[in-house]
Amino acid sequence: MFDLVTKCFYDKKKYPEYSILKNYRKSLLENKNFIEVTDFGAGSRVFKSNKRQISKIAKTAGISPKRAELLFRITKYFQPESILEIGTSLGLATSTLSLGNKNSVIKTLEGCLHTMTIAKSQCQLQNLNNIEFVNTEFSSYLKNSKLQTPNYQLIYFDGNHSKQATLDYFELLLPTITNETVWIFDDIHWSKDMEEAWETIKNHPKVTVTIDTFQWGIVFFRTEQEKEHFTIRV
Ligand SMILES: C[S@@+](CC[C@H](N)C(=O)[O-])C[C@H]1O[C@@H](n2cnc3c(N)ncnc32)[C@H](O)[C@@H]1O
Repeated sequence: MFDLVTKCFYDKKKYPEYSILKNYRKSLLENKNFIEVTDFGAGSRVFKSNKRQISKIAKTAGISPKRAELLFRITKYFQPESILEIGTSLGLATSTLSLGNKNSVIKTLEGCLHTMTIAKSQCQLQNLNNIEFVNTEFSSYLKNSKLQTPNYQLIYFDGNHSKQATLDYFELLLPTITNETVWIFDDIHWSKDMEEAWETIKNHPKVTVTIDTFQWGIVFFRTEQEKEHFTIRV
């Protein structure tokens, strides 16, 4: 924990990858084109129409710049070989994961084809080639795919922020855990519903250490560690 906090969470070094992330975001924020989106799950609290401007999606749906830098450092620190992202949107976090470990194999799931297509072409423009984009509804994918292989060492849960969906994905993915697995849940305090999901996850017998960064709930399954819940503001 000490190592993770000092060498990763509070690492103040300005990595060159941060400017790639900045440029990725900038080009989306400058993109005034509209796309037709398919709304899923808990949906958006911001948009009413299904025609949305790319710049506005980038502003409201994606990972913040500060969080992206932290996600980059976490990926760089753990060097997971296999990563799953649940909720691609425009790929702001996908590109971060990719840059964090260029040797990893990343699978990212997104239900909205038009949004995913933008993410895919943005990543190609940045030469981020270790990503497989899967256009699918999350639960049908997680129920139907053979999840035992590969064992994702890092999973970023960032789509459908409802209690039921979060706990369903948690259960569906449990067979893939190893001692090294790290799971990151976004928006654990977003609603009462998500608070309850987070409490259930923390109390699960397979979960040992958790870290609450307020925005994220980070989960570890290391059997050698005592069950302990940390709160760390990053
Ligand atoms: C919060 S956004 C992801 C943001 C992205 N990880 C980032 O940091 O830029 C959530 C995405 O999940 C997708 N989504 C939500 N529920 C879904 C479901 N049940 N199946 C498939 N896609 C879903 C939405 O279309 C949306 O693009």
